[in-house]
Amino acid sequence: MKKDVNIDWSQLGFGYIKTDLRYISIWKDGKWDEGKLVEDNNITISEASTALHYGQQCFEGMKAYRTKNGDIQLFRPDQNAKRLNNSCKRILMPEIPEEKFIHACKQVIKANEAYVPPYGTGATLYLRPFVIGIGDNLGVRPAPEYMFCVFCSPVGPYFKGGMSPVNFVITQYDRAAPYGTGAAKVGGNYAGSLLPNSIAKSKGFADCIYLDPATHTKIEEVGAANFFGITHDDKFVTPISPSILPSITKYSLMHIAKHYLGLEVEERDVFIDKLDEFKEAGACGTAAVISPIGGIEYNNKLHVFYSETEVGPITQKLYDTLCGIQFGDIEGPEGWIV
Ligand code: COI
Repeated sequence: MKKDVNIDWSQLGFGYIKTDLRYISIWKDGKWDEGKLVEDNNITISEASTALHYGQQCFEGMKAYRTKNGDIQLFRPDQNAKRLNNSCKRILMPEIPEEKFIHACKQVIKANEAYVPPYGTGATLYLRPFVIGIGDNLGVRPAPEYMFCVFCSPVGPYFKGGMSPVNFVITQYDRAAPYGTGAAKVGGNYAGSLLPNSIAKSKGFADCIYLDPATHTKIEEVGAANFFGITHDDKFVTPISPSILPSITKYSLMHIAKHYLGLEVEERDVFIDKLDEFKEAGACGTAAVISPIGGIEYNNKLHVFYSETEVGPITQKLYDTLCGIQFGDIEGPEGWIV
């Protein structure tokens, strides 16, 4: 019989809800084991694990979508597998073969099918794959063993208000060093963002914008999401830098902007003192999808883009097309939907 989970899908925010099963696989003696689904959502690891002391861990964020006819689909999981492996390489952890990664995700979704929100609610099943260094170790060196896990939780919008504009502020903090780990999805980048995030929130902003750590003149990221702007002559512009986390949503939007909306696309520097070149701006990422940026406060001055309350027309079209592809209402490019 189909399980009933009694969740008010329309009220979901971006929070953790324990689901039934999660996947765990262990790397030992140079290889990954087959992996299995387990009920317990607690993991037991050595007190001397490198993940706990030296931040040797990385993660991914992806979503499963329920389509109109009840099917469940993933959006570009191969890209998440590749990015996870790039993160693993950066901090000397063993890579996960792409088929193993996708098979693990599929197993977790199937085992928790009741938690995949219904079509039309806007909610999705968020998947959180992660790799951590475990085993007994004291010195600063790669761990002797690793754990690869995938758990899931049904989620709603990441930023309060979802597709309504929110404001961001620039603080004095950096998110990553110029050639550090900014382009890897490692937890340390996010630990460092907690204080600036709380400062931004205490001032009434949704989160903060990070400038490039070398010169503090160019936009890099919007909290845990990437930035895009639409110029007055209808170009989709997004920053490029070795310390930006390469968002799969952003690269998908670049494709959508060009091939579905017919916009010119530029990946290039975005200067904080040249925000006037944009008529619309947004934050994008798996969790955030698209969150329109109402305004950015810099040097105590709020620069408003399209509006603090209304969504710009191009941002809206990008959102509708992206979500249309993700939920199966619009045909996506080959290979995007699994
Ligand atoms: C995502 O967009 O999936 C992220 O990983 C961002 C955040 C929730 C850490």
